[in-house]
Amino acid sequence: MRSLIDISELSCEEVDSLIATANDIIAHPDAYREKCRGKKLATLFFEPSTRTRLSFEAAMYELGGNVIGFAAAQNSSASKGESVSDTAKVISCYADIIAMRHPKEGAPLVASRAASVPVINAGDGGHSHPTQTLADLLTISREKGRLTDLTVGFCGDLKFGRTVHSLIAALSRCPGIRFVLISPAELTLPGYVKDTLDEKGIPYEETRSLEDAVGSLDILYMTRVQQERFFNEEEYLRLKNSYILTPEKLRLAPPDMSVLHPLPRVNEISVAVDDDPRACYFKQVLYGKYMRMALILMLLEVQ
Ligand code: CP
Repeated sequence: MRSLIDISELSCEEVDSLIATANDIIAHPDAYREKCRGKKLATLFFEPSTRTRLSFEAAMYELGGNVIGFAAAQNSSASKGESVSDTAKVISCYADIIAMRHPKEGAPLVASRAASVPVINAGDGGHSHPTQTLADLLTISREKGRLTDLTVGFCGDLKFGRTVHSLIAALSRCPGIRFVLISPAELTLPGYVKDTLDEKGIPYEETRSLEDAVGSLDILYMTRVQQERFFNEEEYLRLKNSYILTPEKLRLAPPDMSVLHPLPRVNEISVAVDDDPRACYFKQVLYGKYMRMALILMLLEVQ
């Protein structure tokens, strides 16, 4: 039995295989409609979500399975003091696979050690969000036709953005990747992530200016400033509008650059950008469902 807590647990070959399965599901959805008949997914969300929870649920329904779960900690016995470990043991009696989101880093790992069914990390604090990364990788693969030889810009909250940390970890294994890290000084990439880049000899540069960087990018990954991770409201208000991608700024970008964003968006991409053919963030949402279908099949060992 296998869980997925961090994207690094998947080999490059397994990521390629998940992308191939997702592409096959997109091409032949009817072939997958009964694959999980009789199976149950539990979505245990201790933190708010629209995309991740509902795409996991849609994924399981499209595979012919069923879904149980809760969407907020206050609707669960965690509000009475039940531990993550006990919750995981209990839910293992009801479901074949668990997707868990939790505000505390490491909670899904703790759950996976107690559960007797696979646990998928659906986002843990500022740490990791491996299934968003799978959605991002499928989007890049379909948009660019490759996951190699790309200059990838990350813009916004690189400190607390767990999707940034997970995608950097995944792309760091691909040859020919270069990163451009665009953030205010207060929200730079954590030292432990930069140390990994240094150890692997992966080129990156840090800048404050989106305008200066955008012309050199194959991918621009915009992110929201993560209000829920700030201890100081004033600091959040000062930083929240650090970057806003507008059609004017996009005019400085290559014509084939792809704009990704894990969503939700607040102000960081103007809605006027949505009709630009380079805007990929709503396709990215759809691809997330297909990658979660592929992952459920893999972890349940369904052929
Ligand atoms: N991208 C993402 O994790 O969105 P939700 O918080 O809505 O799940």
